Amino acid sequence: MRKGILGLTAAAAALSLGLTACGGDNGGTSTAQDSAGASSAAAKPGKIGVILPDSKSSARWETADRKYLEEAFKAANVAYDIQNAQGDKTAFQTIADQMITNGATVLVIVNLDSGTGKAVLDKAKSQGVATIDYDRLTLGGSASYYVSFDNTKVGTLQGEGLVKCLTDKKADKPIIAELNGSPTDNNATLFKAGYDGVLKPKYDSGDYKKGPDQSVPEWDNTQAGTIFEQMLTSEPKIAGVLAANDGLGNAAIAVLKKQKLNGKVPVTGQDATVQGLQNILAGDQCMTVYKAIKKEADATAELAIALAKGEKPAATGSVKDSESGRDVPSVLLDPQPIYFDSVKDVVADGYVTKDELCTGDFAAKCTEAGVQ
Ligand code: BGC
Repeated sequence: MRKGILGLTAAAAALSLGLTACGGDNGGTSTAQDSAGASSAAAKPGKIGVILPDSKSSARWETADRKYLEEAFKAANVAYDIQNAQGDKTAFQTIADQMITNGATVLVIVNLDSGTGKAVLDKAKSQGVATIDYDRLTLGGSASYYVSFDNTKVGTLQGEGLVKCLTDKKADKPIIAELNGSPTDNNATLFKAGYDGVLKPKYDSGDYKKGPDQSVPEWDNTQAGTIFEQMLTSEPKIAGVLAANDGLGNAAIAVLKKQKLNGKVPVTGQDATVQGLQNILAGDQCMTVYKAIKKEADATAELAIALAKGEKPAATGSVKDSESGRDVPSVLLDPQPIYFDSVKDVVADGYVTKDELCTGDFAAKCTEAGVQ
């Protein structure tokens, strides 16, 4: 049943791809952002196309992933093209088509959902283009490799972080709200499995009380604010917020601020964005999870470059696709929890600069937190 529906979606998507491709070179890419990368090198050993998902669900895609991938490709002197689908699934498919038409022999994607991701991967494969799932695994997909972090561990760190901050505050039977990532992002499922693994025993033992628990479509930060506002209205005694990334966390913090509850109710996050780190410095956010995107980009570039040369690179492990049961050759990196005292580690690692972090009132906080 499920397979049938998927098959149909893929077929329909492939059909619409064909139609869009006939529409001309510019069709659907007006929302996409072109990188100057295509001109960076002679088209040898093969062109690598990268499609990023959007620029709003997290600052990381444009500020970190694009930058580090670009640096890696330039250093290797390979031809590449990095574009951003800006949350538009049709544009995503059109970009993939155009990249292949323009000679991409390797396609790296961060899917917007598994259905459209699978359509893109399958079509690429049928044309002899090698594929890599970057950061998000496409369920039921056909990518040759998957590069990401241990995403269940990311969730575990978030759950443990919330527990630590609630313990520091000596919270008594706190009511917990969960603001989950996009229901169409396999990572969001893994994050939730991780943090629920920590929180559920606390709910079961009566230490914590389970409050509202909702997913945020497309990780949309604005919707997250609306959803959290409703959560807080229905349950004004929320005492801890498990927010799946810094953007969702910031949306919750904005709502808490209106009730003068910021700083009293710990909020989690992920991505170590400048905003998330500043919220930690201000005391409004309890923790974030730092993922060294440079390592993720470097590992991906290494695989992509080998594939472009026609090699069969080795992965360090494998991940089981929960839908197809396929073992996907994978590289999974280790995430790191960040609290007030370890904000400095993110700066020391070069992920954010002191200049962008320690602006205005944050300068004094940076000093207090030992940011160098
Ligand atoms: C990524 C996170 C990101 C989120 C929203 C997830 O798939 O792993 O780092 O915050 O998507 O873009």
